[in-house]
Amino acid sequence: MRVLGIETSCDETAVAVYDAKAGLLAHALYSQITTHAKYGGVVPELASRDHIRKVISLIEEAMAIACSTPKNITGVAYTAGPGLVGALLVGAAIGQSIGFAWGLPTIGIHHMEGHLLAPMLESEPPSYPFIALLVSGGHTMLVRVAQLGIYEILGESVDDAVGEAFDKTAKLLGLGYPGGAALAALAKKGDSKRFHFPRPMINRVGLEFSFSGLKTFAANVIAAHSLDEQTRADIACAFQEAAVETLVIKCRRALRLTGLKTLVVAGGVGANLVLREQVHHMVKEEGGIAYFPRHEFCTDNGAMIAYVGCQRLLAGQHGDGVIQVAPRWNLVDC
Ligand code: KG4
Ligand code: ZN
Repeated sequence: MRVLGIETSCDETAVAVYDAKAGLLAHALYSQITTHAKYGGVVPELASRDHIRKVISLIEEAMAIACSTPKNITGVAYTAGPGLVGALLVGAAIGQSIGFAWGLPTIGIHHMEGHLLAPMLESEPPSYPFIALLVSGGHTMLVRVAQLGIYEILGESVDDAVGEAFDKTAKLLGLGYPGGAALAALAKKGDSKRFHFPRPMINRVGLEFSFSGLKTFAANVIAAHSLDEQTRADIACAFQEAAVETLVIKCRRALRLTGLKTLVVAGGVGANLVLREQVHHMVKEEGGIAYFPRHEFCTDNGAMIAYVGCQRLLAGQHGDGVIQVAPRWNLVDC
């Protein structure tokens, strides 16, 4: 089984070829960040148009790197949701068209399932069952992963996703969009003792998250100070510490509640080095192991879609050839 995977759910056009025996053969990506940065966020119509412009050349690029021809591809996977409807439709239309033209089975993949299983692309992947912390621009959730396709959501954000809180705080600090990585870089120069930000919902039982209060707290601190370079760094540092500590506290709780010892962290915020360090430390204390995708597979990519497509096609699943997407789609229903 060799699968062509296509990701177009938001602002990255990404394509990969994954082979069930040989592993990942190629991945190619075009980021639209410069298109959207001047608007301070993703403009859906511009995203769709950029995907149309780039997707075919990326498919050609990935196929060439993988030394593949239509004859040795055996399936096509594309992100069918959740995401921006127009952007998703570009991937679904091209995926279904290639499947039709090359006579191959096709399958629509849940974007968050891709993130969830991205650590499976590494040389030492985790074994099922495990707990996954999914932290992206649109989602913050703790999931019990029993096996491929069997997911139980243990807790999620009742309001903003943690990536969204990073992005909004970064924007107020003048760091542009998306600002998560820039905020993390600024935080390195900050003094963690100067400000103390709240750790939302840690005293409440359960595994729910809330990040809108933290974002508002950051906005109030920013409004109350004159923003010299050191103050911006100190605020970035305090915000990051609060967000990371909150996530780590809930992850520890999830491990204890389920008795599982394996924790996977995935999604764009999983690229955050302070989060990675503190998760490793906590999981070690709990006698478990933590797994992360490599940095480039934390954020959106085609490799995770090709991987999940391959596993699902191997399990005998496939779509019905209809171009259909699900901008809102619950992970447990995928
Ligand atoms: O998974 P992803 O690429 O896209 C979605 O599916 O949302 O995640 C993007 C999010 C953005 O909010 C971005 O600011 C955040 O991940 N992010 C980071 C870092 N790198 C990306 N947040 C904190 N620290 C980082 N190093
Ligand atoms: Zn994503």
